[in-house]
Amino acid sequence: MIKYLGSKRNLVPALGTIATAAGVRSALDLFSGTTRVAQEFKRRGIFTTACDLASYSYQLARTYIETDADTVDYDALRAHLAAMSALEGKEGYFTETFCRQARFFQPHNGARIDACRDYLVPLTDDPLFPILLTSLLEAADRVDSTTGLQMAYLKKWAPRSYNQLELREPELISGKGQALQGDALKLVDQVPPVDLAYLDPPYNQHRYFTNYHIWETLVRWDAPETYGVARKRVDARGEEHRSVFNSKRTMASSFFSLLHRVRANTIVVSYNDEAWISEDEMISAIYQAGFARVKKFSFPQRRYVGSKIGIYDPQGKKVGQPGAAHNTENVFVGGEEATLSQISAALAS
Ligand SMILES: C[S@@+](CC[C@H](N)C(=O)[O-])C[C@H]1O[C@@H](n2cnc3c(N)ncnc32)[C@H](O)[C@@H]1O
Repeated sequence: MIKYLGSKRNLVPALGTIATAAGVRSALDLFSGTTRVAQEFKRRGIFTTACDLASYSYQLARTYIETDADTVDYDALRAHLAAMSALEGKEGYFTETFCRQARFFQPHNGARIDACRDYLVPLTDDPLFPILLTSLLEAADRVDSTTGLQMAYLKKWAPRSYNQLELREPELISGKGQALQGDALKLVDQVPPVDLAYLDPPYNQHRYFTNYHIWETLVRWDAPETYGVARKRVDARGEEHRSVFNSKRTMASSFFSLLHRVRANTIVVSYNDEAWISEDEMISAIYQAGFARVKKFSFPQRRYVGSKIGIYDPQGKKVGQPGAAHNTENVFVGGEEATLSQISAALAS
């Protein structure tokens, strides 16, 4: 699984317990990111729909949520992975942009990423495409030289960046599911009602489009013009890829509108203590959206991405500060009294 800001790695078991205790058969993860929460729902036999704005998240969702592990042609999958693994490196856009103009990956790995991604171009319409692309994306993530954000790279090469790019077979999950790409504020009206909806939006200024611009480019393979030390996509400057959830002015009202519009019996909202919305505002918004009872569950956790190491520009000047090493992840659950009692009992046991 890729390193990802706000990834709910530590919360996944608790979110799975909540879904099982609520007895849900269908779930919606509207901000699915790495898809690790949606994957947990699917593993529990729940029909899950995963949505996100980001192109890389959509391909991860096609792989882990939409693909049924029982219907995959594994001979073909392994043959493609073997062919990609055997490719000679071929320096192209990726190496030039992210290994020479910037230092996110070592050139020997950049050249192999270029060759593998070019190999996938004729396979774009193949059902194996998202799986192979996920394998490449996860392989690249294991040899990057960042703290987990792509706004800057490390001053000295990260030890893992010296490793060889290694393509692995993604661990697919049996069963059906759905992947959607788009703005949650639009998709929310298009997906059918579900038993449980999970909402984990960006709660502050951190923009995923710029923080993960390399994954966006690797997936789109559109060789965009870039700017700045981090060689970000020029379209990151435009309005088109701004999320209303990254603006203090629009975040709360957009999120509250979503709460009103989502059609679910039980709602689970991830919320951390660095958010622009206060706890009281959140609780009253969930009540106002029509849920009979609201409960808060708290989970202290170690922060995952970008918190420990300082961030440097190519001259070795510190351009970012390490954040706090711990924060608290809160989960607000809105639903029927009986459902909340079952969830409380399950989390306490
Ligand atoms: C906190 S992360 C979700 C992390 C996810 N739960 C996980 O464990 O990997 C927030 C996600 O919201 C997505 N996002 C931002 N604005 C969005 C919007 N308007 N509609 C849908 N997704 C959006 C981002 O791309 C990002 O993946």
